[in-house]
Amino acid sequence: MIHAHITSWLLALILFIVALGLHKSGKEKGFKIVKMILRLFYLLTIGTGIWILTSINIDMMYVIKSLVGIWVIGMFEMVLAGTAKGKKTAISWLLLIISLVIVLYLGFVYLPLSF
Ligand code: HEM
Repeated sequence: MIHAHITSWLLALILFIVALGLHKSGKEKGFKIVKMILRLFYLLTIGTGIWILTSINIDMMYVIKSLVGIWVIGMFEMVLAGTAKGKKTAISWLLLIISLVIVLYLGFVYLPLSF
């Protein structure tokens, strides 16, 4: 399940970058479609995350890790929404990078299920 989880968020990250690239090159239709597929991967990421949670003895750090994971997804959406509307996204980007660093640290380094 950990592998499915990693695959889901990694693909979400790639689709997020692809979506930004499509928007930048003016391909609005592609941007919309990739955003829809991206949302499916959010669900898969959340689903596999919850699956892991239900299969282990959870303590507080797993809950915090999961909440930060949801925060990352929220920031993906904030950056995309801001970009689509042509607004400034510097703060969203900053929060995205902070949340991503925290979640990767907690997932790979701090919590014990890592490789
Ligand atoms: C884009 C969002 C997310 C990223 C980048 C992410 C990243 C990671 C990483 C790097 C790991 C460690 C994998 C390993 O141990 O080899 C992990 C594990 C885990 N994730 Fe996520 N995750 C995200 C979203 C979520 C969500 C939404 C949930 C819960 C609903 C969740 C729950 C978990 C749990 C319970 C683990 C096992 C903890 C452990 O490593 O020991 N994650 N995640």
